Amino acid sequence: MDFQLNEQETLVRDMAREFAQKELLPRATKHDREETIDPEVFPMLAELGLMGMTIPEEYGGAGMGNAELAIALEELNAACASTGVTVSVHNSLLGSPITKWGTEEQKQTWLPRLASGELIGSYCLTEPNAGSDAAAVATSAVLAPDGSGDWIINGTKIWVTNGGWAGLFLVYVRTNTEASNAKGMSAILVPADTPGLTVGKKEHKTGIRGSSTTEILFENVRVSGAHLLGEVDKGFMIAMDTLDGGRIGIASQAVGIGRACLESSIKYAGEREQFGRPIGAFQAVQFKIADMATRIDAARLLVQRAAWMRDRGERCSLQAAQAKVAASTAANFAADECLQIHGGAGYTDDFHVERLFRDARITEIYEGATDIQKIVISRNLMG
Ligand code: CAA
Repeated sequence: MDFQLNEQETLVRDMAREFAQKELLPRATKHDREETIDPEVFPMLAELGLMGMTIPEEYGGAGMGNAELAIALEELNAACASTGVTVSVHNSLLGSPITKWGTEEQKQTWLPRLASGELIGSYCLTEPNAGSDAAAVATSAVLAPDGSGDWIINGTKIWVTNGGWAGLFLVYVRTNTEASNAKGMSAILVPADTPGLTVGKKEHKTGIRGSSTTEILFENVRVSGAHLLGEVDKGFMIAMDTLDGGRIGIASQAVGIGRACLESSIKYAGEREQFGRPIGAFQAVQFKIADMATRIDAARLLVQRAAWMRDRGERCSLQAAQAKVAASTAANFAADECLQIHGGAGYTDDFHVERLFRDARITEIYEGATDIQKIVISRNLMG
């Protein structure tokens, strides 16, 4: 057992930290207020290899694993969680499944364009009546009647991260209405410029406001049969396995937000004086900082274990769910305590604290709410 980052992991952490602190942190308030990410950020991310972290080098990616992706995501999210989730979804929910299940043609067509940042990736699972119950997807894909093997897609997806700027969507559709819900879904790659695909309502969110969250509407969207990812009717398994990786990404996001809260609290507690001494001299504040640090460190270790298992090709549904529960709970605890330590100043937008407080909240909701993670955990333990 080794708790030290190796040479490559250390390089990734230092590179991502320098970029995040220099380029993302100064933009984070602007991203939040303007509800978008500065477009020049995407090429910078790609230049550093952050848009193709787990894509093999032969397809233009960085050829790394989930461990390095988690380390990079912690750094990005400690500075700007809107950018952090954009990168997490792009890598874990699109680059990774194409790498794992794509045909050679699909890999050659899409992976270099994702790794270079030419295309942003997105994942369309949730629908108005299929949220936590992901197997209830109703968006349909039927084979074209002309015998061409093309799929024709109709339906509506919601809460689509990267919806407004994605060039490629991985869309989960119902291809079999006779089978049970989970056994009649497929995964299809749909380029954003396919006729009939439109970006619908943009959500105005409590936090991660710079990220793009939209509806995506499909009206007789026709794609070639070559766009099917994996086997027909096996899409639910792809969706769930992909989310195991995505949940490690969101857990990393939570660790990053929590760490930013901790660092801000330590700094403020050393500077702010009351009753003739820095507030950090009071045990009430010291204990808050001790609790924040302990929960964040514990969460990071669970993230690293889940990422390590996934990189070994082992199923990590249990460990990814545990990491997500621990990290999202730690982030919200840290954000709450951080705001309390900053007092009235933290409640204004003079500091990043109120943004961190708002950004932390979503980590307990998306890519499977905490209660869903507890279902995954208990099913893995109890059957
Ligand atoms: N890997 C591989 N296979 C898996 C799997 C995994 N992680 N999880 C389940 N499966 C398989 C099961 O083994 C089972 O196969 P068999 O029938 O052959 O045994 C099949 O899939 C069905 O599994 P379940 O019976 O567990 O399915 P369920 O309908 O009870 O659902 C659930 C389980 C955990 C509740 C699941 O629906 C779930 O995770 N829901 C939450 C969905 C979610 O996280 N949505 C977020 C969308 S993305 C987002 O938030 C926006 C964004 O862009 C960031």
